[in-house]
Amino acid sequence: IGKPLVVLGSVNADHILQVKELPRPGETVTGHGYRVVPGGKGANQAVAAVRLGARTAFIACVGEDDFGRRMKDAFQAKGMDTRGIMVEEGMPTGMAMIFVAENGENCIGISPEANACLTPERLAPHLGLIRGASALLMQMETPMETVIMAAEEAKKAGVPVALNPAPARSLPEELLKNLAIITPNETEAAALTGIAIQDAASAMEAAACLHGMGVATVIITLGAKGAFVSAKGRGAVVPGFHVTPVDTTAAGDTFNGALMAALQRGDQLPEAIAFSHAAAALSVMRMGAQTSIPTRKEAEDFLRAQR
Ligand code: RIB
Ligand code: NA
Repeated sequence: IGKPLVVLGSVNADHILQVKELPRPGETVTGHGYRVVPGGKGANQAVAAVRLGARTAFIACVGEDDFGRRMKDAFQAKGMDTRGIMVEEGMPTGMAMIFVAENGENCIGISPEANACLTPERLAPHLGLIRGASALLMQMETPMETVIMAAEEAKKAGVPVALNPAPARSLPEELLKNLAIITPNETEAAALTGIAIQDAASAMEAAACLHGMGVATVIITLGAKGAFVSAKGRGAVVPGFHVTPVDTTAAGDTFNGALMAALQRGDQLPEAIAFSHAAAALSVMRMGAQTSIPTRKEAEDFLRAQR
């Protein structure tokens, strides 16, 4: 067996409430379908990668609670290498409160909890895993110093680093210079570059700015419009698939996991993006984060049906 994709990131218990419209400040709304489902950008991307066909190892901190323990077992049952998942004594697992509106839009508040324990010190014993990876995929829901350290270690070992810079914030040069791939959405691209993404021209400008910071492949996701993909001196919008949204939570995570799975099996960028769009479109048609991520077969069948 070949090297695994290593995903480093967060685990959250997602508390979902379905509402007609997202509540406004000061408003109380009565919803339905309250439930707690597995989420967290790191976990969602690791689950997407494994379900969409990648050999995957996951580095994360869960809490010393039922949810955390159940998550670790569930990841292992899915075929993930879970040796990098640490159970944090006396800490609760990370959590997210999510309102999902009838039109599929959401509004999320998170509390890091055990995710905040993923410090450089806690990562140190797992650096061997990163050095032996096919690629490293990270997001921004775990401490920045650790993301910087992991990227540096991977780069030194010749392991390509992909960053999904979510949630939005600006990033230090010392991190950007070690990235091979970055996948911001429009808001995140604007936070990184100061350029508002309005059309292909501004996306091209933001991509050029990120290339200038040392990132070879820039993929700006544009929601239902698809993605602006810029690499090797060429940039273009690769359209996505139009579906009726039920819940857009984890669509970006599904896209990222799918992308890394496709690249691991040797797909070229254009086909990898098409596969990722298909996987993300399927995830948008279902409720929840990890509960909405399709299998490789589902994504391939959907892609075939669209052609
Ligand atoms: O990207 C979606 C995720 O963001 C949710 O699962 C929630 O946990 C938040 O972290
Ligand atoms: Na979803």
